[in-house]
Amino acid sequence: MSAARTEDAAANGGGGVCPDGGVTVLRPTDLSEMLAAGTKEVHEKAENTEFVKDFLKGRIRKELFKLGHVALYFTYSAIEEEMERNKEHPDLAALYFPHELHRRDSLARDLQYFYGEDWQDQISLSPATQRYVERIHQIGRDQPALLVAHAYTRYMGDLSGGQVLRKVAQRAMKLPPTGEGLNFYQFDGIHSAKAFKQLYRSRMNELELDSLTKQKIVDEAVLAFQFNMEIFGELEEVGKTLQDDVLDAAPVHGAHGEMQG
Ligand code: HEM
Repeated sequence: MSAARTEDAAANGGGGVCPDGGVTVLRPTDLSEMLAAGTKEVHEKAENTEFVKDFLKGRIRKELFKLGHVALYFTYSAIEEEMERNKEHPDLAALYFPHELHRRDSLARDLQYFYGEDWQDQISLSPATQRYVERIHQIGRDQPALLVAHAYTRYMGDLSGGQVLRKVAQRAMKLPPTGEGLNFYQFDGIHSAKAFKQLYRSRMNELELDSLTKQKIVDEAVLAFQFNMEIFGELEEVGKTLQDDVLDAAPVHGAHGEMQG
């Protein structure tokens, strides 16, 4: 959580440890600090959505998990397509880490596991995902510097919570310990998430951006969190209909507890 990070930074005098072991001094005008501070409130909101809270408690049904993965697949496809298109743009080139970060192919493998060979014919964009994806493409075409916000919101979040979520998901849905269906959480090109996040922050801070652009990136990151929350809201709604199915079925089967999808 952003709060934990702020405490970390305070503990070593506002500095952070560089991947090479040196110490960097972070300033409030550094983009990484502006992003952490500017998204703190919306991060807390996201943490407190029912979908996310349920997920953390291991209350995740496979059907919803699959739909969440579909939304992620479309989202990452858009982010990565736009990163690719703009990889030489001066505001983005330093944040282009396809080998380390890109998730589209891992998500495609997971979807193939869940839906089978013809997974592409079975998935479609939900309305909230469509709005998110359209925004990413619009930004990629018209204001590429703001793509930083979309990459930050997803990749830094994934690197922060991925391993915990992976374990929760594997246990809750009894997925094989060998990792099928969980490729999304596996960053094979990154040995230490903590060190990589420090590198990513320092790369963001080295971008030559004026203060107005930095502020626009923070605002765009808040928007990106909101898009994610809209998707969680949609999943909660779908979850209610699944729940009804379970309740309807209960007297017949005498079933208790969670539906496994
Ligand atoms: C960072 C926890 C949900 C995006 C973090 C960190 C923690 C955390 C502990 C700090 C890691 C560190 O400083 O090294 C959680 C928990 C969540 C949650 C418990 C759910 C209950 C989300 C969601 C998103 C998100 C839904 C966005 C879609 C981020 C981002 C960061 C982050 C962008 C990096 C903050 C920064 O250092 O600038 N999260 N998170 N998180 N999280 Fe979350």
